[in-house]
Amino acid sequence: MPEQIAKNIYWNGIKDWALRYFHGRELSTRHGSTYNSYLITDEKTILVDTVYYPFTDAFIKNLEAFPGLSNIDAVVINHIEPDHGGALGRLMDGGLRPGIPIYCSKPGVDIIKKYFQKDGWNFQPVATGDTLKTGEYELMFVEMRMIHWPDSMMTYVRGANTLLSNDAFGQHMCTSGFYDGDADESELFGEALKYYAGILSPFSKLIERSIEEALALKLPIDVIAPSHGVIWRKDPVRIIDKYLEWSRDYTDGSVVIVYDCLYEATAAIAGAIARGLGNKGVKHKIVNIADADVSDLIADLFCAKGMIVGSSTINNTMFRTIAGLLDSVRTHKLKNKVGAAFGSYGWSGEAPKMIAEALARAGIDVIGDPIRIRFAPDAGELAECVAFGERFADAL
Ligand code: FEO
Repeated sequence: MPEQIAKNIYWNGIKDWALRYFHGRELSTRHGSTYNSYLITDEKTILVDTVYYPFTDAFIKNLEAFPGLSNIDAVVINHIEPDHGGALGRLMDGGLRPGIPIYCSKPGVDIIKKYFQKDGWNFQPVATGDTLKTGEYELMFVEMRMIHWPDSMMTYVRGANTLLSNDAFGQHMCTSGFYDGDADESELFGEALKYYAGILSPFSKLIERSIEEALALKLPIDVIAPSHGVIWRKDPVRIIDKYLEWSRDYTDGSVVIVYDCLYEATAAIAGAIARGLGNKGVKHKIVNIADADVSDLIADLFCAKGMIVGSSTINNTMFRTIAGLLDSVRTHKLKNKVGAAFGSYGWSGEAPKMIAEALARAGIDVIGDPIRIRFAPDAGELAECVAFGERFADAL
C-alpha cells in the first residue's frame, strides 16, 4: 500500500535517491529527490500528477496493485514538466479507461498535446476556483501561471485541508520517511531555499502576489503536499511564511566574494577584501568558482546582501565561469543587493570593468571603482583592498 497522508489521500510517488543533477546539470541535488504523485480514493478515485518518465514502469506497477488502473476515474495534471507528467503517455496508452478525463490548466492542454501528440484525449481545462466533487471531498484548482511554467497549478482538497502544491514548497531531497518531521530541519530548509533560489527566484514577484491571493481565500491548510521532497504537516504555515520572506527581496546581510584566477593574485585580493569585511564584523565567504557547486553558489548569492566578484583578465575579458555566473545573477533577478568588482591583470586589464558593467546590468548597485591590480598585489595594494572591504561593509 502507498503511504496514506490524510484520510483517503495517498502518496504514490517515487524516491530517486541517486539523483545528483536536475534540469540537465543546472541544479545539483546532493540529497536526491522524489517525484510525488497522489491518489485520492473518495467515491471517485483521482490520480494527481505522475512521475519522471524513467520511473514509469515502477509507477504503473504500483498503480496496478493499488487502486488498479481501471479503478481510476480521472487524472489531474498540475504541471506537465516531464518530472511530473512524464509517465502520462504510457498510462493513457496502457491501462487507464478510454476517455478518462484529464483536468489541467488551459496552457496545460496545449503543452500536453505538444509533448504527447494526442489530440483525442478527454481534456477538461480548469481555471482558478473551478471545482470537482469527488464524494466527501471537493477539489479546487488554483492556477499558478509561470510559477514556474505557464501550465502550473495547485489542487486544494476541500474537506481534507490538504494542498497538493506541485513544484511550490518542494525540495530536492529523499528521506526514509515522507514528512517534514522525518528530515533534519536545517537540511530541509536549506534544500527548500536552494530549490527556491535555483528554480523559482526569477518569479518572486508573481510568487508573492499569488501567495497573497491564495491566503486571501482563507482556506484551512493542515497539509501541504508538494511534488518534490517531504510533505509539510508539522506546521505547514512555516514554509508559506518562508516563501513570502524569500519572495520579498530576501537577504541575510552576508557578503559573498567569488572569483576565478590564473595564478594567485586575484585570490590574494579576495582575501584582503575579506579581511576588511571581517574587521567590520560582516559575515562573508570566499568562493573560488572553479571548485564550486554553482547551484549552491546561486543560493548563497540569493541570500547575500553583497557580492564582490573578481576575475583575472584573460584574452581581454573575464573568465567564462564568472561570465556565466553574472548571467545567472541577471536571469535569477536577484534584487536589493550591492556589488563590486576586482581582478589582477598583466597588460590590458579589462575584466574588472566588464564585471562591474555586468553587475549593473543585472540590477546590482555597484559600489566604488573596480579594483585592478597589475600582476600581483604588493603590501600597499593589499592594504588598499582591506580598506575597500571596510568601505564596502559600511555601504551595506
Ligand atoms: Fe518539478 Fe517544474 O517540475
